[in-house]
Amino acid sequence: MSVLEIKKYPDPVLRRKALPVENVDGALQRLIDDMIETMYAAPGIGLAAPQVGESRRVVVVHVNLNEEEHPLIVLLNPEIVEYDGKVVSEEGCLSVPGYVSSIERAAMVIVRGLDREGRPVEIEAEGLLARALQHEIDHLDGLLFVDRMSPIKREFFRKRYMRRLKEPA
Ligand code: NI
Repeated sequence: MSVLEIKKYPDPVLRRKALPVENVDGALQRLIDDMIETMYAAPGIGLAAPQVGESRRVVVVHVNLNEEEHPLIVLLNPEIVEYDGKVVSEEGCLSVPGYVSSIERAAMVIVRGLDREGRPVEIEAEGLLARALQHEIDHLDGLLFVDRMSPIKREFFRKRYMRRLKEPA
């Protein structure tokens, strides 16, 4: 397993609509293992394949905090089939380092997809897990949490972020 480089906004790979996984093969298993390693190393609670430069519909999520503990989830071709309620909470992203913002998300979701062996799975989630799943699935459609800010907040974010990118490290 290896820790991969996490692509940062405004890398164009983060804007691409990722392609569905068609073959559950050894190369895919390696990608999944590397994504898990990369998520833990960051550390983060979720990672989508475009964030490591792979435009494929693969996400890994591991919410494991005192308030909420869940097993590691690997999903191929995930789809949100049901949304319920609304909740606003702070959110950040490994591809947008140094920024958090209050983002509105569905309070509860039902997600369908395949597990890492290609078997169909359905997950009903609420709380932080629901938020993490919505955030990671957005990545597969080229969306970042900043796209869910109000236009004024987003423009303010963009200016500050780009200015910071130009500063010497
Ligand atoms: Ni993210």
